[in-house]
Amino acid sequence: MVKINRTFVEGLTLEEKAALVTGHDFWFTAAVPGVDKMMMTDGPSGLRKQADDADALGLNDSVDAVCFPCSALTASSFNDDMLMQLGENLGIAAKAERVGVLLGPGVNIKRSPLAGRNFEYFSEDPLLAGRMGTAYVKGVQSQGVGVSVKHFALNNRENQRFTNSSNVDERTMREIYLAQFERIVKNAHPATIMCSYNKVNGTLNSQNQRLLTRVLRDEWGFDGLVMSDWGAVADHVAALQAGLDLEMPGKGAASVDEIVEAVKDGRLDEEVLNKSALRVLRMVAKWQTKGAVESYDKDAQHEFARKLADDSIVLLKNEHGELPLDKRSSLAVIGELAARPRYQGGGSSHVNAHQVVTPLEAMPQTASYAQGYQLSNNVVDDDLMAAAVNLAQQSQQVVYFMGYPEEMESEGFDKTTIDLPENQVALLNKLVQVNHHVTVVLQNGSVVAMPWAEQVNSIVEMYLAGEAVGEATWDILTGKVNPSGKLSETFPLRLADNPTYPTFDSEQNEENYHEGLFVGYRYYDSKQLPVRFPFGHGLSYTTFSYHDLKVMTKDDQVQVEFQLTNTGNLPGKEVTQIYVGNRVSKVEKPTKELRDFVKVSLEPGESKTIRRTLERRAFAWYNVTEKRWEADNGRYEIYVGSSVEDIRLQQSFDYELGQDPLQKVTAETYVADIVNHQSPKIKAALEQTGLGRQLTAILQSDSAQIFENIPLRSLVMAYIDPQVVRKFIELANA
Ligand code: BGC
Repeated sequence: MVKINRTFVEGLTLEEKAALVTGHDFWFTAAVPGVDKMMMTDGPSGLRKQADDADALGLNDSVDAVCFPCSALTASSFNDDMLMQLGENLGIAAKAERVGVLLGPGVNIKRSPLAGRNFEYFSEDPLLAGRMGTAYVKGVQSQGVGVSVKHFALNNRENQRFTNSSNVDERTMREIYLAQFERIVKNAHPATIMCSYNKVNGTLNSQNQRLLTRVLRDEWGFDGLVMSDWGAVADHVAALQAGLDLEMPGKGAASVDEIVEAVKDGRLDEEVLNKSALRVLRMVAKWQTKGAVESYDKDAQHEFARKLADDSIVLLKNEHGELPLDKRSSLAVIGELAARPRYQGGGSSHVNAHQVVTPLEAMPQTASYAQGYQLSNNVVDDDLMAAAVNLAQQSQQVVYFMGYPEEMESEGFDKTTIDLPENQVALLNKLVQVNHHVTVVLQNGSVVAMPWAEQVNSIVEMYLAGEAVGEATWDILTGKVNPSGKLSETFPLRLADNPTYPTFDSEQNEENYHEGLFVGYRYYDSKQLPVRFPFGHGLSYTTFSYHDLKVMTKDDQVQVEFQLTNTGNLPGKEVTQIYVGNRVSKVEKPTKELRDFVKVSLEPGESKTIRRTLERRAFAWYNVTEKRWEADNGRYEIYVGSSVEDIRLQQSFDYELGQDPLQKVTAETYVADIVNHQSPKIKAALEQTGLGRQLTAILQSDSAQIFENIPLRSLVMAYIDPQVVRKFIELANA
C-alpha cells in the first residue's frame, strides 16, 4: 500500500498526473503505479452501475438494484432519519458493488415547474433541500462510500443546459441557490462536489473560480474533490486553474495531452496539477473498496423503499372522509398507470429495478380493473373509455390513476406544460359523472395543474414512488399506513401564476432570475396569490392541534416551544413547520421563510412538547456590500404551522442578538431612521448638538411625514444648519 502524499505525487510523471485529473473512461478514475482505478456511479434513487456499454443518460442497462422513490417524493417525508436510512441503503449497495463514489443527490432548487429534472431535486426551499441532502450524504458515507453532491450550481433548467447562463443577483444566489450546498458541505462533508453544465452570470461553471474555489473552498472550507458533470468541461486547462480537479468522463489521450502541453509551455502551473492529482488520489484512497462484488439483501432494501414511500406520499385532498377506502364497498381501479406505473424518472438516475410491484398487482383481490386510456398517446380511445365508465358506474368507489407519461418528463429537456394528457382528463370528466366517490392517484415527477380538483373527493400525490409503488399505493389508500408526507413544492392554480412563467426557457443563452428571492412559496405567499396546494401541505387520517407557543431568546439563539396534540382517533405523524418573518431589515424579503421543521409521531390523544432552537442564521440575510450574513436587531415574527398557509400559532418578538440595522449614520440617512433607531450613541449626539430638539419640533408639525422622508443632507429645507448636521453625523459615528 503506497502512502498518498505530496511526495508520492511529485514522484509521478507529468503524463500520469495529467491522466489522474482526467476520467479514465465513463465511470472510472485513472490508475497509476500503486493506485488502482476507482468506479463512480449514479445515482440519487438507486444504483446505476453499468457493466458495459456505458452512457450518461440511462440508455443502457445497469446491474440489478432496488429503485427507491425519487427525491421529489423523499423530500416530502420531511424526515431526516428516513433520508439517512436511504443513504445507508444506497451505501450498502454501492459498497457491495465496489462503487467508490455515488453520483448524487441533486440538490438544485425547483425554480420553475417546467424544469426537466425537478423529479430528481428535493425542493423549492433551500433549508429542506439542505437538510434532506445532509442526511442522505451522511447515510451513504457512513457505509464507506463517498458522495458527489450535484449540480453546483444554479442548474435550474435543462434546455441548452451546456451553454445557458443563469443570471442571478448575489443575494438571491447566496440565500436561495447556494444555501443548501453550503449546509451540506459544512455539516456532511461530502467526498466530492459535481459542478454543473451551465454558466453563472456568464462564466461556465466548470471554469468558475469564484464558485469552485473562493466560495466552496475558501469560504465554506470544502476540502474534498470537485469533478465535472459528464461532458461539462470546455477548456480543461482553464477548468483546473479555476479549481476543478477531475474532468469526467475525460476525452482520453486528447485530455491528457492537453494538460501535458499546457504545463510544458507554461500555460499551466504544475503546482495546480499536483494539487488536483493529489485530491484524486486521496479520494480513491479513502473511498475505494477492492475485491469481488458481494451480494446484499435486496429484498430488505425493497421493503425499505416501500417504507420510505409510505412516509412520503402526500394526501392532498380528502373530503367526506373518502379515504381510507371502505373495505366493504366494491372498488374499480382505472387507468393504465395502475398496470404500467411511472415509478422512476428518465436519464442518468434510471435504475434497472430489482422487483417492481405495480398497483394492479398489489390491489385488493375484490377490485376490478379497466385500462381507461392509452399511455402511449393523448387521444381518447372510445372503447377503453366506455369500458372504464361502465365499470365505474357499477362500482361504489373508484381509484383513478393519472400522471405524466415518461416521454414528457426526463433529464435533458424541459417540459412545456404542467397539464395532464387530454385523454386522462377527458376520462376523469366522465368518471365523476357516474360515480361520486372518485379518488385520483397521481404519478408524476413534478407539479401538475389540477383544474379538475374540485370534482373529486380525494387526491393522493405519489410522485415517482420507486419499485414498491404498488404496495405503497395501497398502504395509503386502505389506511394500513396513515399518510404523513407534505409538499416540498407549491402546486399553483395555473402555470402562469409561477413568477418565472413569462421568461423561463425563452432565451437560448440567458436565463434571467428576475424574481430574485421570490421563488416558490416565497412568491405565492408574499403576493397572497391563491394556489392549488401550498408548500408544506399534506393531510392525515387523524387531526392535530397546536397550542402554547413560547419564544425565548438565549445567548445567540432563539428557542421556540409549543405543544402538539393528536386530536383524532388514529396514530399519526405531523410535520410541524417553523417559519420566520423579518419585520426589521430594510431589504427585500419574503413574508415568511421556512427555518426549521420536525416530524412528530403521536398516538391518539397524545401530546408532546416540541422544543426547537433557531440559530442566528435563521434571522440573517446576505449583505452584498459587506459580503457577510447580517442579522438585525428588531422585530421578527415566528409562525408555527402545518403548511406555509395553515399557520396555527404566531408570535412577534424582538431579536437583540444581531446588530443595529442603522450601523452608520451618513448624510444620506433618513430622518425616520434616526428617529426610529435611537441607540444610546445617537440619542447622545441628538442631545449634544441640539438636533434632537429641532427634529422634535418639525416632526410635530403637519408636515411631519414629509420631513421624516428626507435625508440629513437636505435638512436645510427645514432651516437646520448644515454645521449642526455635520457635527451630529460625526458624533453619531464616533
Ligand atoms: C448528469 C449527472 C450524472 C452524469 C453521469 C450527467 O448527464 O447530469 O447528473 O451524474 O451524467 O451519469
